[in-house]
Amino acid sequence: METSFPVFKKPKVELHIHLDATIRPETVLHFAKKKNLQSSWFEDREAFLKSVVCSKPGSLTEFLSKFHYYMPAVVGDRDAVKRIAYEFVETKAAEGVIYVEVRYNPHLFANCKVDPLQFGQNEGDLTPEEVVQLVNQGLKEGEKDFNIKARSILCCLRHMPEWSPEIVELCKKYQNDTVVAIDLSGDEGLNGGISPGHLQAYEEAVRSCIHRTVHAGEAGPAAVVKEAVELLKAERIGHGYHTVEDPALYKRLLQMDMHFEMCPWSSYITGACDPDFTKHPLIQLKKDGANYSLNNDGPLPMGVSLETDYNIAKTYMGFTEEDFMRANLNAARSCFLPEEEKKQLLGVLYEAYGRNDL
Ligand code: NI
Repeated sequence: METSFPVFKKPKVELHIHLDATIRPETVLHFAKKKNLQSSWFEDREAFLKSVVCSKPGSLTEFLSKFHYYMPAVVGDRDAVKRIAYEFVETKAAEGVIYVEVRYNPHLFANCKVDPLQFGQNEGDLTPEEVVQLVNQGLKEGEKDFNIKARSILCCLRHMPEWSPEIVELCKKYQNDTVVAIDLSGDEGLNGGISPGHLQAYEEAVRSCIHRTVHAGEAGPAAVVKEAVELLKAERIGHGYHTVEDPALYKRLLQMDMHFEMCPWSSYITGACDPDFTKHPLIQLKKDGANYSLNNDGPLPMGVSLETDYNIAKTYMGFTEEDFMRANLNAARSCFLPEEEKKQLLGVLYEAYGRNDL
């Protein structure tokens, strides 16, 4: 499959991207109008992007605050939730992604059985469970229309451990219906150790054979990564940049073949890493033959698409065509599809790459 993606035109796999950070500006403005939301940043596309997009390094906390600008336009709206999921698949297909795992917290899109409501929305009748059903519908329709495979990961939020028991139950209920894993995301700075709510949800995920990834070592230290692996039994690490600062842990994770979901541009915007990309920990991972993938994290508040992440890797980190192939094969073998489907995905990539020696 050839696409307009200039850096690496071959089929790609993406494992770390947030649905609520992937909404098209037009879609936000459409639903803001529908709800008659009055705010200067909803006036037009330009004003909106100026308010929402981060273009220079800040903090993760600052980055997360951007969601409060645009989420009120879409929360509690069934059409919006389904459309966002559908459009997401269309966007990924156009980038040449053939398999994607998209993550989100269903409570953030709901306006019923959510306490406290996160965006000052009025209470309504859209529950977190129905959000999952709507996203599933949108993803499935997108799969059919755009001929790629899309699965989802449900996120627990670090500041809302009260929601985590429901998240793991939703993962179990929809396990064979689009949902493939559980995640823990949010501000690691808020983390004073793992909350019992998250820990119990992950223990239940282990018992129920739900796959597990955790945002860790992004803004936070290597100790958070250690906690994710030892306590939460993470099978993949979201970001994990600071892992390399604990050589013993890093060595252990290399030996375990732990997968790192790397998001270069995101790490620049959130201030997670040195803004000089030539000093990025991904370079070390590549040198050490680590198991990592290249991902975007969230194009709306980041202001860029997956292509930028590939460009950065090529321009500042010395990525060759072979390195890109390897990163995508890593993603495929570390994805959360059932074994048979994973084998098929790897087969498609090997064929497209004309290689079976990577
Ligand atoms: Ni993320």
